[in-house]
Amino acid sequence: MKAILFQSALVITAVSFLSACHIDKSQPNFELIQDMMESPAIKPQEADPSTPNHISGREPVKGTAPVGFNVEPLDDLSVAEKEMKNPLAGDMSKDVLLTGQKYYQVHCALCHGSKGEGGVAAKSLIAEQMALKPPQITNEKVSGWSDVHLYYVISRGQGLMGPYANHVPQKYRWQLVNYIRHLQKTHKN
Ligand code: HEC
Repeated sequence: MKAILFQSALVITAVSFLSACHIDKSQPNFELIQDMMESPAIKPQEADPSTPNHISGREPVKGTAPVGFNVEPLDDLSVAEKEMKNPLAGDMSKDVLLTGQKYYQVHCALCHGSKGEGGVAAKSLIAEQMALKPPQITNEKVSGWSDVHLYYVISRGQGLMGPYANHVPQKYRWQLVNYIRHLQKTHKN
């Protein structure tokens, strides 16, 4: 009997305590357990005093690659030409050319012209405005390049032309190379 009385007294006290608290949203909450509030983790963009340059974002270890991505020796053209080869060399099938054409039309034609003619001949508003006209890529010079050289320029850029590695996924870059080969065969001048 005594225990029941005691328990009901506790319940009554708890209920009246809770109903007495009203939540004041203009004040910060009272932190009951503070351990989780003070995390040692560095937030994005926050300075990290423990590193020499106080940069908290770390560069990935050299050679780190996302799943499904091949690390390619593209730092140096001569190394690339020795170590890489076009897995689709000479493949002019419809699938390959249509894929290459899609990327060419979206990312390259605006400067180099839809047939690779380049220069002023590329009747594009962008090419017209450029001081250095985008070169022709169906001429003898570029036709004489290796597939890897073309792949290298697409991935790394060249001089004034920026890299297109972020625009043309690795998976479709050789198709683009083959499409340029196709343009070179069909639009020689
Ligand atoms: C914004 C304009 C622009 C776009 C877009 C562009 N290029 Fe270029 N490209 C240039 C210019 C300008 C050069 C010459 C750069 C230099 O040598 O300084 C060049 C050079 C090249 C060369 C070397 C030609 C030579 O004679 O040395 C190739 C090959 C090439 N581009 C292919 C491509 C491909 C493939 C794409 C699409 C993925 C592309 N370009 C997109 C402007 C562009």
